[in-house]
Amino acid sequence: MKAVVAGASGGIGQPLSLLLKICPLIDELSLYDVVNTPGVATDLSHISSPAVVTGYLPKDDGMKQSFSGADIVVIPAGIPRKPGMTRDDLFKINAGIVRDLVKGVAEHCPKAFVLIISNPVNSTVPIAAEVLKNAGVFDPKKLFGVTTLDVVRAETFVATVSGEKDPSKATIPVIGGHSGETIVPLFSQAKPKVEIPADRLDALVNRVQFGGDEVVKAKDGLGSATLSMAYAGFRFAEKIVKAAKGETGIIEPTFVYLAGVEGGDAIAKVTGCEYFSVPVELGPEGALKAIDVVSGANDYEKNLLEACYKGLKGNIEKGVDFVKNPP
Ligand code: NAD
Ligand code: LMR
Repeated sequence: MKAVVAGASGGIGQPLSLLLKICPLIDELSLYDVVNTPGVATDLSHISSPAVVTGYLPKDDGMKQSFSGADIVVIPAGIPRKPGMTRDDLFKINAGIVRDLVKGVAEHCPKAFVLIISNPVNSTVPIAAEVLKNAGVFDPKKLFGVTTLDVVRAETFVATVSGEKDPSKATIPVIGGHSGETIVPLFSQAKPKVEIPADRLDALVNRVQFGGDEVVKAKDGLGSATLSMAYAGFRFAEKIVKAAKGETGIIEPTFVYLAGVEGGDAIAKVTGCEYFSVPVELGPEGALKAIDVVSGANDYEKNLLEACYKGLKGNIEKGVDFVKNPP
């Protein structure tokens, strides 16, 4: 199992690479970035876990060397937010970065699982899909927008209400997209069930939707979530790898191209969105089945979903358009 991290020298890339290096399921770990990968790779290579680590820069055909033979490529490359910015403000720079990295995937490891972390995820995933389509290698079952951090936040924040001592015991579908109002936690479908007092629900939902802003504000100009994202990115990547190796019953919300995943068409019909984050059952070839939690939403959540659909459609179109009608 060869894993690649593209953007490996960054705030997310380094701790994510560390977690992948110590994961016994990974045999080979290749780090790609425009800076510092020789140093980060050498540092990680001294850890006494099985994964063999390499690091590449763009020079000397580095992308080809790094990506060739990859089974999974995780992409946290690109600039993060500063206070006052929206994720969409990152589009100008990150759209091109993701496009070019995914071109590299199409060329050097077209069968790899591709996990997009770079923001704005609502647009960068459609960009990736269009690039893969143009290259004739798009497999919707293998392209994922990583929205796990929203799930992790929902688990953590709901515990402040439920009093659960181990927040990770909760399973909460968080669906839609990955920015502000497009993030929709469905607390009514939490397992085990949680009773959230009516006067605390708005604040809880808001904290999940704007958890990213909380970190951006606290870091005060030095970036956005990196450590919690590395945890979330690793948690999702590990599930993809476990499913690829045959483990069954793994379900995790992720942002996918609905028409390409079993069960997705019905969800696309209800949401009007081509791409959507929903709980997806994972299998050896990637996304096995999209699970419809949308129709079970209560009236309060249906209102949240209406706002989500509106914002998300525009973000998706912007990503598709970037590749179809290059600026
Ligand atoms: P960072 O600036 O610390 O790191 C980004 C890395 O990308 C840098 O090392 C940089 O050199 C590298 N890079 C830039 N262009 C590249 C290219 N063409 N090829 C390879 N590498 C390249 O930023 P960060 O804090 O790690 O955040 C990275 C991205 O992840 C941001 O866009 C951020 O908004 C996003 N993010 C997403 C989530 C999520 O939930 N999906 C959560 C947190 C952050
Ligand atoms: C997050 O949710 O923390 C990330 O998307 C980074 C950000 O810009 O908020």
